[in-house]
Order: sequence, then C-alpha cells, then structure tokens
Amino acid sequence: MIFHDIIVVGGGLAGLRAAIAAKMNGVDVAVISKLHPVRSHSGAAQGGINAALANNPEGKDDTPERHAYDTIKGSDFLADQEAAFIMTSTAPEIIREMEHWGCPFSRFEDGSVAQRPFGGAGFPRTCYGADRTGHYLLQTLFEQCVKHQVKIMEEWFVLGLSIDDNRTCRGVVCLDLHNGNLEMVGANAVIFATGGSGRMYGTKTSNALTSTGLGIAMPFWAGVPIKDIEFVQFHPTTLFKNNVLMTEGCRGEGGYLINKDGERYMGRYVSEKVMELGPRDIVSRSTQTEIEEGRGVEGKYVYLDLRHLGAQKIMERLPGIREICIDFIGIDPIEEPIPIVPGMHYTMGGIDCDQDGKTEVPGFYAAGECACVSVHGANRLGGNSLLETVVFGRRSGEDASKYVKDKEKKAQESALKKSLEEVKGQLNTIGGGNGKENPYEIRDELGDVMVKHFGIFRTGEEMKEGLEKLNGLIERFKKIRPIDNCKAWNFDKLWIMELAGNLCLTECIALGALNRTESRGAHFRRDFSKRDDANWLKHTLYRHTPEGPQIGYKEVQLGRFEPEERKY
Ligand code: FUM
Repeated sequence: MIFHDIIVVGGGLAGLRAAIAAKMNGVDVAVISKLHPVRSHSGAAQGGINAALANNPEGKDDTPERHAYDTIKGSDFLADQEAAFIMTSTAPEIIREMEHWGCPFSRFEDGSVAQRPFGGAGFPRTCYGADRTGHYLLQTLFEQCVKHQVKIMEEWFVLGLSIDDNRTCRGVVCLDLHNGNLEMVGANAVIFATGGSGRMYGTKTSNALTSTGLGIAMPFWAGVPIKDIEFVQFHPTTLFKNNVLMTEGCRGEGGYLINKDGERYMGRYVSEKVMELGPRDIVSRSTQTEIEEGRGVEGKYVYLDLRHLGAQKIMERLPGIREICIDFIGIDPIEEPIPIVPGMHYTMGGIDCDQDGKTEVPGFYAAGECACVSVHGANRLGGNSLLETVVFGRRSGEDASKYVKDKEKKAQESALKKSLEEVKGQLNTIGGGNGKENPYEIRDELGDVMVKHFGIFRTGEEMKEGLEKLNGLIERFKKIRPIDNCKAWNFDKLWIMELAGNLCLTECIALGALNRTESRGAHFRRDFSKRDDANWLKHTLYRHTPEGPQIGYKEVQLGRFEPEERKY
C-alpha cells in the first residue's frame, strides 16, 4: 500500500507551498492532484497579491497593521483578527521569498516590486506580475517542487478521506484516472488544498471547470465541520456572457465603470475618492442595481472602460485582459469598452481550521480557498486570496511536519480498507442503480438555481423557493442513470462525484443563508438589509448528519479593531 508521511491533496498554490514546507523540513510528502499542478485554477488569478511593502510612493505609510485593518473592515468584521494579523504581517516576507525564488513580478523604475491599488485597500499594496500574477506564482512554486523533488501523483482523483474510529486522519482513497483503479494512500497527515467551488453556480463563475465543491464536501461527509459557507463572493467585473475574470487590476490601473448613459455610476454608492475601488461586495451590488434599475446596456450589462489608460499602459500592465477580450468577444479594450457583469468568484467559507490549518480531526489540515481560517470573514478583499494560499499553505505544511515527526511511518490498513469500502458503497449508491435522470441536466439546473436564488441580492422568500428546487434536484440525483463503467479516464464518474459534492455544499449555503437573518459582506438580504452584530457576529458551523446539515455557531475572534459601520 502506498504510504507517505504527509499527503497534500491539490496542486495549486496552497498545496504546492504546503508540500515545499514539508519537504524543506525533511518530511516524506506527496501531492495528489486531479490535474497537472500548473493547470490548477490558482494560475488563473490575475491582478495580484497584497503585502504592505510600501514600495509605491503613494503607499509609503502602509503597514501590515493597516493591511489587517482593511482586511477586517472588508470582512464586515467577521474575520478572526489574529489570523488576519498573521497573514498581513507575514506578507512582506512571503513576497521576498517568492521574489528570491524567481517570481517575475512587475517592477517600478527603481527595481522594487511594483504595487497597484486594489478595492477596499487604503494604500496601493497589490504586488503583481502584469495581469498574470497567479500564473507566475504557480510556475515559481512548481519549479521549487521540481528542485526539492516533491513527489506529484497527477491525474489521481481523491474520493474519500480516511478517519479512523478514534477520529484520527489516516490517509485518502483515490481513483487513478489513468487506469480506473481505486487506491488506498496511507498518511499520518493529510492537507486538503483543493481550491474553490465556483462551479456550484454553473457557468456564471470566473472559476475553472475543476473548481467544484467536492473538496469541501468530502471532509464534511467524513465528519469535519465546515464554516461560513453562506458567504459567496461575486467579482464585480467578469466578461458578459462567459464570466471570464476581468481583473480588479483594470480598476486599480484607473479603469472606469460606466452605465448605458456613459455615466461613472460608482459615485452613487461610495465616496468620490473611492469610486471603482470599493470592496467587491459593494461594487457588485452597485453594478447589479444599475442593471436592475434600467441603466444597464440592453438591460443586461455595464462597461469597464479602459480606453483613457492608453495603448501603452494597457499593453504593459493588462496584456492578458486585452488578449482575452480580443479572443473571446472580438473587441480591443484600447478602442472599445468591455461589457461586464458581476460573476461568482470565491467562497469565503470552507473547512473549519485554525491558523496552522489544523481541523478538529488530528492529522487533517486544510489550506487555501477550500479552508476557512477565517481571514476573509463575510467579504474577501482582492489580492488577499493569493496571499492566503502561500501564507497558510506554508503554515499548514510546517505544522503537519511537526505533527508527523514521531509517528510510526506505516499505513493504518484497517482504517483505509474501511474507507475504500465506503467509497465503493458511495459510488454504487450514486451511480449503480437503474435510474433515468441525466446528471448533467441536474448540474445545469443547479447552477441556474444558485444564480437566481442565492445571488448578489437575497430574500427569505426567494431562498425558500430556491431550497425547494434544490431539494428536488437532490431527490432527482438519487435516481440518475448508471455511471459509465469504462476504466481509464472515466470522466463520467469524476463529474458525477463532483456534482454530488456541489449538491451537498449548495444545500449548506441555502440553509445557512436562510438562517442568517441579517446582511453582512457578500450575504445581502433585502428583507434584512442591516448588519446585526447583537445576534449575528458569529461564524456559522455546519456538521453533516444523516438527516442533513446541522447548523451551530462559533465565536468570532475579535481584537484590536472594534466592529464599526463600514463606510467607503
Ligand atoms: O481581480 C483579480 O485579479 C482577482 C484577484 C483576487 O481574487 O484576489
């Protein structure tokens, strides 16, 4: 049986950084990924990574404390403050590390790492590599993995997390996509870094096809609680029709948002000083309001206008955006404004864990977007996601290295065999019957329900209706046609399991969002439009039960910054 001291699941930034940390600590580690690592969705991140370097003359007074304040205010005070401080005070050192490892950041004239303004930030603190920052960081970390000879099991699809009767993590069960074999992989620690879940919202997301809810659902099914999953971020600027990300860097570089009358409308919603650089929740709601109130172009979208930036700046700082616009919709942003709408982008919630990635199950860790530390609370600031992946990826790899140090280096076969049987049973229950339902129709309808009923604006009535539709889809999923039984590259099995994860997570979102009778950050209810700290300054904690998700609460860790009304 395969055994490694630490198994990292996921080959994106958080996973690779965790694996490098473990390897540098002399620990036997392997990364399991359903994709080749450099195809991970981290590579699609565009605009940048935040750190208070104070390199930009306009940001010379920036400090990690100010970065922490912006993060906590942006989170609508739901972030755990110590975690936010850890992230922001580690940020400068993390940028230096990436720089020394060869990450090709854009530079100011004096050679220092360039920084641009981003939304909700008091200073220009977003370090970037043109508009391909995630891609550059990912290549840099992959090179480090090659250098340190980190073992990578690519195109292996994890289907089960093994937790023994003493509630200790023992490894994972995987499907080797090359030959269709189910394999048990023993480990003393497992770190989940499986990324985001945007595809719960069908195609109306900036996320890659592979970003589904399964990486959160799997530990949830195995008894690990998840947290704050009702908070779903919509990025203000995704391309109209296909929702490809149009980086916040466009607005950071000075881009305007304009409605059908050519008006820069953000002045209606935030101060003249802030305009397009409000936090994402507010900018997305503002754009949606413009469209709903009839000021959208053809009633459907608004424009992101870069024309005034000039050809040179666009080609130097936003070359990828220009390329995407030309390739996908045949317009050149140097000459024409870009049609955009808000699109689902990020889940603030995820697997409940602490600042070292530890969950309540010994030996099981989480890092990156699938985790909820929580540093983003109810609304994440742009540029803090890449930062979170590397800071908390590294921390989880380091903590797991200490955890496995004195453990016996041997797979716990009985626990793994039990998990293998459970996975076989689950596959049989899901796709082993004689039903007639088409899982891909269910998947498409699920996306429509989420967009319509659990979107930028929510109401109790709409969400109740959405939950009923969801329950209908869950019932239909129990009657799907058999899973295709081919062995090698069985994508039918893969997508059906991803859908099972999506259905589970969306049910949690629906229940949590209905339950939370207030508006906070990205969770905006028209029927409860105010934040209610007296009753809701708390994290939602979801536990799996045979009867469905059970909701409880966890205290928010406050600190230096008293909750206050958010004004921009
Ligand atoms: O807009 C962007 O470039 C995305 C950044 C982020 O989500 O942090």
